[in-house]
Amino acid sequence: MAQAREIFKTRLGFLLIAAGCAVGIGNVWRFPFIVGQYGGLYFVLMYLFFLLALGIPLLTVELAIGRASRASMAYCYEELEQKGSRWHINKWWQFSGNYFLMAFYVVVAGWMLYYFLSFAFGDIPQDITRDAAGADFGALLGDPVLMYTCVLATVIFSFAIVALGVIRGLERYTKPLMIVLIVLLAFMACRSVTLDGFADGMKFYLAPDFSKLENNFGEAVWAAMGQAFFTLSVGFGAIAIFGSYMSEKHKILNEAIFIATFDTIIAFLSGVVIFPACFTYGIEPDAGPNLLFITMTVVFSHMSFGNFWGALFFLFMVIAAVSTMIAVFESSIAGCMELLKWGRKKAVIINFFFIILICLIPLLGFNVLSWVQPLGEGSCTLDFFDFLVSNNIMPIGSMVLVLFVCAKNGMTFKRYIDECNVGKGFNMSYKLYGYYKYILTLIVAVVLAVGYYQIYMKLFG
Ligand code: ALA
Repeated sequence: MAQAREIFKTRLGFLLIAAGCAVGIGNVWRFPFIVGQYGGLYFVLMYLFFLLALGIPLLTVELAIGRASRASMAYCYEELEQKGSRWHINKWWQFSGNYFLMAFYVVVAGWMLYYFLSFAFGDIPQDITRDAAGADFGALLGDPVLMYTCVLATVIFSFAIVALGVIRGLERYTKPLMIVLIVLLAFMACRSVTLDGFADGMKFYLAPDFSKLENNFGEAVWAAMGQAFFTLSVGFGAIAIFGSYMSEKHKILNEAIFIATFDTIIAFLSGVVIFPACFTYGIEPDAGPNLLFITMTVVFSHMSFGNFWGALFFLFMVIAAVSTMIAVFESSIAGCMELLKWGRKKAVIINFFFIILICLIPLLGFNVLSWVQPLGEGSCTLDFFDFLVSNNIMPIGSMVLVLFVCAKNGMTFKRYIDECNVGKGFNMSYKLYGYYKYILTLIVAVVLAVGYYQIYMKLFG
């Protein structure tokens, strides 16, 4: 069963590492472009609703399961469920979530590293056109060896930190990484305020625009919920592992509020950095991957000291991505160590090879496997992995976790609330039971059903 485990030495260490698990590509890349895509402020409000209604409760659920069981996803259910029940089957769903997420995540992290290095070494020409920047990004996607090299660099770095252990590795290195991330973002956001296009950029980013919602309201709701799950990394056990390393000095709701607030501020400020810069240089912001790797490259190439700002921006992106990779690798490694009784070294080596193997599916989807279009014309294998994780594993996994803490043969709601209320801070009430059991799960179920219906219509309608 659960092995003796390390506990974070400092609260700040725990908070920044859990926040680092949450802060990632979802904040710095997905959030800004889906806000722009789905109606600005209207989308932000929907997102905030899901964050409060689902996100924070789910963070408390994962942290409480982790702390009460002091185990990873491999045995947290066995530690807490009643004898004879089958909740522990969810571990397989969660293990797969960890691996599917990382399979495509490391590819995007590799792109970010490539752009960081390109700016840092001054390889991006000045005043590059959108077509030329698009062609460069296309060339990167068409070059699996170059992409794989960048992916390997980020993966090796992240595994090296995890290999050192919870205190000597994660706490020691993620903490300063997150502090650098905050400083970089604050610096870039302050500069953004001074740009000529600040007002126009903020208008594009946040001005409520119902026309963008009219024809795809259901899709926007689904995207807002998917984003709330994705950005907080809930539903697949990655947050729970940090619950298992946290101390009992503070109540869980306090820590969950900190993580969600920190995560939202980083996401919001990323948009504050991106959109005013686009408008200052008269460059129409794009959606999807193009926003970062084409639009922003054009923007920086037009700035004075563009290489400096571009390098800083992509360094920030790399740190955000790597902080999540470190956290999720820790979750799967701790899971393997407990499940298979492996030492950390063995778990790191085997997980490393497994990740660099499965990431080839999304990576090759842009070149040799480009004929595979699993979600309809124009989609790629990376989209499919993203869809699997963001719209299936995370929400369904979260629903199971909520039912687990409510069930009499699961953790039981009393034990969940008791665990949340250990330490100093805000209490949670037993009266939340009805909300968790019926409303929270119903919201997820309805939005999931709408999302599937839309995918069905897109593919076959
Ligand atoms: N929470 C992680 C992110 O936002 C997965 O990128």
